[in-house]
Amino acid sequence: MVLVDRFGRPVTNLRISLTSECNLKCFYCHREGQDFSFREMTPEEIERIVRIASKLGIKKVKLTGGEPTIRKDIVEIVRRIRPYVEDLSMTTNGTTMKTLAEPLKEAGLDRVNISLDTLDRKKYKEITGFDVLPQVLEGIEKAIKLFHPVKLNMVVMRGLNDDEIWDMINYAAQKKAILQLIEIEVPREMENSWFFKKYFYPLKPLEEKFEELAVEIRERKMHRRRKYFIPTEYGIAEVEVVRSMHNTVFCANCNRIRLTSTGHLKTCLLRKNDLIDIVTPIRNNASDEELIEIFKKAVLMREPYWK
Ligand code: 5AD
Repeated sequence: MVLVDRFGRPVTNLRISLTSECNLKCFYCHREGQDFSFREMTPEEIERIVRIASKLGIKKVKLTGGEPTIRKDIVEIVRRIRPYVEDLSMTTNGTTMKTLAEPLKEAGLDRVNISLDTLDRKKYKEITGFDVLPQVLEGIEKAIKLFHPVKLNMVVMRGLNDDEIWDMINYAAQKKAILQLIEIEVPREMENSWFFKKYFYPLKPLEEKFEELAVEIRERKMHRRRKYFIPTEYGIAEVEVVRSMHNTVFCANCNRIRLTSTGHLKTCLLRKNDLIDIVTPIRNNASDEELIEIFKKAVLMREPYWK
């Protein structure tokens, strides 16, 4: 069984924010659509929600934050939800991978996405506020030994790291990681902000270039994102392009629902006022049936942001 929303979109993925806290402070961060908060879900609560989700056909789970690995109980959380999930992945900034990759692998994590916007130490500090690039690169090396695939997330910003796109493609080819080039994403009301105007770097022209260069192109179901296989001197690089702004195809093919770190289902990263509390009913001893109804309600609230 799979839940389908009013726009015919099956919901197969759950993206769980485990904490809104992060040990880095990237200036462009969209915080996965949530505010800072104090009362996080417990591992038991997260396990229950994932179990319910899996009954409803949601078999892919991604753990995010904030930075998910700064939770002390991260390994326990992975171990608890592992049995209910077919594909269990995590998005991390990589700062903790050197020590945590192994225990996470052992607990059953399938794969990781690591944020890496630049290979330049000074720029890394400018973007994230912390001079930790060497530590992150070590973390990436470690992760690549254990997880397949490892994806590197690069948010491309005009005048900041757009000159490094090809360096990153070469790096990814060399390390046998997948590179995701990501356009800055903001809600409508922020499109006129100085930040968006200054840094937005449209990736469409580059994607057209990739069409010419690629020896193979595959299309993913999720958001219909394309993956390009691009020859480099280090072998073939696998590159995905994530263009979400004003992209109706992206939204029409969205299969995910979100869970905030404070235990609210959320229908869309960019939407406001779309939170549905699921953790309070759990704390008040709700039955599985009641929780299933809450999921169904959330799915029916889903609406494409760009349409
Ligand atoms: N636009 C696009 N991508 C973003 N990320 C964080 N903020 C933004 C934004 N405003 C990316 C991070 C991370 C992933 C979870 O989201 O780089 O890899």
